[in-house]
Amino acid sequence: MFKILEANELTTNIFQMIVEAPRVAQACLPGQFLIIRVDEDGERIPLTICDYDREKGTVEIVAQAIGAETFKLGKLKAGDSLADVVGPLGKPSDLCEENLEDLKKKKIVFIAGGVGTAPVYPQAKWLKEHGVDCDVIIGAKTKDLVILEDRFKKVCNLHITTDDGSYGRSGMVTKALQDLWDEGNKYDHCVAIGPMIMMKFVCKLTEELGIPTVVSMNPIMVDGTGMCGACRLTVGGEVKFACVDGPEFDGHKVDFDQAMNRMKLYKTEEGRLMLKAQE
Ligand code: NAD
Ligand code: FES
Repeated sequence: MFKILEANELTTNIFQMIVEAPRVAQACLPGQFLIIRVDEDGERIPLTICDYDREKGTVEIVAQAIGAETFKLGKLKAGDSLADVVGPLGKPSDLCEENLEDLKKKKIVFIAGGVGTAPVYPQAKWLKEHGVDCDVIIGAKTKDLVILEDRFKKVCNLHITTDDGSYGRSGMVTKALQDLWDEGNKYDHCVAIGPMIMMKFVCKLTEELGIPTVVSMNPIMVDGTGMCGACRLTVGGEVKFACVDGPEFDGHKVDFDQAMNRMKLYKTEEGRLMLKAQE
């Protein structure tokens, strides 16, 4: 069992937890994810890692209550436990592998949309710890849905935009990126993490602007080990599994329309059966 040391609601239906998981905390790097089960009968829930503390042996997760399992997860309190925490899964971010002197010469921008803001945090923090500056654009529908603002301010140059203009800049992340570019921020590298539709349109814009772009894909996952095929994607015309080949991919090569169609199919029983038959 994996003890929950802290559990807080960050905003409506989005909660943060610090969980005791020493082996995962020892090994994980920015970009990787976990699969958890709330109890022994529970479904597996893939979650991105928001932060980790190797000395304390803890990992931090941020999740949105959108289905039965995540609602059950959101009801847990400090002192409760999770039945399973499996990870770290997937490949670490390519940024962790790059030569630091080369990275320092690059102008890097992260685009963090909604709950996708959480997995951007460990990457920005890792860069700061290694002496690399970056810009982060957080996009949220409205002011109340902006998360982790104070923590981001300590590790990056932060730009916030809200769809309704209630806080920061006004409009979606693509508008903020275009405006920052027009204001003279000629970015060399972009990482976009958030809803698929956001990543699709960020990639459309960065392709026009000529900015290489990495996205973190979060399709439906089941086993997280490359065996079940649930997280299948097409990237550059090739079949890839987000759980073992990703979750990060070259955003200009991802077939987002196919990925979004598969997500829609999973929302119906009939669709789930259809996809199972294809696997
Ligand atoms: P949201 O719908 O509130 O969108 C967040 C921001 O994305 C918006 O404020 C806007 O700036 C931008 N955006 C949305 N649609 C856009 C478009 N068409 N063009 C340009 N920009 C657009 O986000 P949410 O409700 O918090 O998102 C939840 C989704 O994020 C879920 O589907 C979840 O699976 C996904 N998610 C993804 C990851 C990941 O690793 N990729 C991690 C966590 C959550
Ligand atoms: Fe099963 Fe990726 S989740 S192959």
